[in-house]
Amino acid sequence: MFDAAHAFGCSYRSRMIGNFGSAEVFSFHATKSFNTFEGGAIVTNDDGLAAKIRLMKNFGFCGYDDIEYIGTNGKMTEVAAAMGLTGLESLDEFVECNRRNYQQYKRELGGLPGVRLLAWNESERCNYQYIVIEVEEQLTEMGRDQLIQALHAENILAPLFLSGLSPDGAIPVVLPACRIAAIGNRAGGAQSHGSAHRKRHRRGGKFRHLPRNMAGHGERARSEPCFG
Ligand SMILES: Cc1ncc(COP(=O)(O)O)c(C=O)c1O
Repeated sequence: MFDAAHAFGCSYRSRMIGNFGSAEVFSFHATKSFNTFEGGAIVTNDDGLAAKIRLMKNFGFCGYDDIEYIGTNGKMTEVAAAMGLTGLESLDEFVECNRRNYQQYKRELGGLPGVRLLAWNESERCNYQYIVIEVEEQLTEMGRDQLIQALHAENILAPLFLSGLSPDGAIPVVLPACRIAAIGNRAGGAQSHGSAHRKRHRRGGKFRHLPRNMAGHGERARSEPCFG
């Protein structure tokens, strides 16, 4: 059984995630590009297992009053399902927006010493949900925690929860896929999934909390919006 929490819409070796092992579990939590506020899905190609799981999510009920199997209340609420259906309609658009943000991060961060962008394999299907950079403190002159603080001070909520995964000791920082503002351009180039985001980033202003080399990069990015 595989944890596929983040991998909705992604492939591995040209095979869509959801087709591996006995079963895989996707998370549809609100932090994912496809979400139902909370919830998820178990997917399997095994009809027998699927039938058992269907029983389990509804207290093991089969028919009106027949309990056939152990179970729990694992049903998705209708409001959550409605959110999911809406998200499905726009999924391609979200992924495309994430992809463009990834490309722009790649372009803009490419020349920064000590900052390495984790590259996605673009021959696979990818949801580009996360933009991960690895930071080499000696070169950036700013530690991971300081960088996170600086980003947060700019209202860029880069999370730390995937830290410590890098095999060679570089420190990963996850940048928000839906806010290109991490590397500049509050003047209109921010790519987000909603107009509220866009309004927030139109205020203008400099990145006071970032190291000079990163803030300078942001300034150059200002005239290069790549959305739309
Ligand atoms: C790798 C991994 N597995 C499982 C989960 C849990 O997902 P959920 O919040 O939908 O329970 C997460 C949460 O993001 C995760 O990162």
